[in-house]
Amino acid sequence: MGITTEGHEPDLPPPRGPLTGYLTGLLAHPPGASTAGPYDGDGDGDDPWGDDHQLALYVCYELRYRGFARVDPEWEWEPRLLALQRRLEDGFLAALRAAAGPVAPLAEQLTELLVEPLHGTGPSHFLLDEGERWQAREYLVHRSVYHLKEADPQAWVIPRLHGAAQAALVAVEHDEYGGGRGDRAHSRLFAEMMVDFGLDARYGSQLDAVPAPGLAIVNMMTLFGLRRSLRGASVGQFAAVEVTSSPGAARLAKAFERLGAGPAGTRFYREHVEADAVHEQLVRRGVIAALLEDEPDLEADIAFGVAATTLVEERLAAHLLAAWRDGRSSLRAPPANAPGVRAG
Ligand SMILES: [Fe+2]
Ligand SMILES: [Fe+2]
Repeated sequence: MGITTEGHEPDLPPPRGPLTGYLTGLLAHPPGASTAGPYDGDGDGDDPWGDDHQLALYVCYELRYRGFARVDPEWEWEPRLLALQRRLEDGFLAALRAAAGPVAPLAEQLTELLVEPLHGTGPSHFLLDEGERWQAREYLVHRSVYHLKEADPQAWVIPRLHGAAQAALVAVEHDEYGGGRGDRAHSRLFAEMMVDFGLDARYGSQLDAVPAPGLAIVNMMTLFGLRRSLRGASVGQFAAVEVTSSPGAARLAKAFERLGAGPAGTRFYREHVEADAVHEQLVRRGVIAALLEDEPDLEADIAFGVAATTLVEERLAAHLLAAWRDGRSSLRAPPANAPGVRAG
């Protein structure tokens, strides 16, 4: 399929407030040529769940993935950048902990996640029962900020594990990256699905359209992956996704078929129906069991990772359903279409 996703450096997104205004101002110059001081805005008025905070964190993190066009890669380790990132992370982490509250024991949460409610109400149910094509497209845009770098945020945790837990996690990651074949990488399948829906699938091209709830999901993954002290939470996040993904993926494949998707427009989700049934077992029996044997003290962190994942997913679901039930767009801007495709 003729899609261009390689070699594309995304542009810095437009600012959404004082934090992103400061940050994009900083990144406009090479680190040595920028005389701006550290961020001195009043952090008290800043909502860690808000657009400005989440986009600023996303931009700091993106310097650790693929960066942005015309932004000096040396910014990645610049002290002003690190200080801002740390402050944004601390605020977000405190908000996650406060919203999660006292966390239920790990085994209890995992068992609960495995039970599919008889009358589910999430976005995949909505899309299957009554979704329209524009809503399916919006769903893909929100998800693209993670799935176009699927498995990358969890790759940070690999050297923080060892032995059996590490081996099992790498086995799952190997599948996510296509089992040695670039054309089967899940990020690639996701891009092909976007193109089938007429969307621009180039890395970063939808960023400006995605509001805070979608950014918070991938920011949380990166936060857990990048801090060794949160490695338990990273494993919990990974487990929560693998455990819950399979039935949702089946619904989405069906929904998209009903909405006129071609084979490339459902392959990503069809693939996940089977793959994640296997991954769920690998993560529970391989990664979590082995990690707890080695480091039993991590149980509460793993449980927090599961709870936080449920929480950010519920926030996105509430955002999507509130907009869609009102017949409104859930995005900040219209989605970017694939080159040569008109709105649809
Ligand atoms: Fe995947
Ligand atoms: Fe998976």
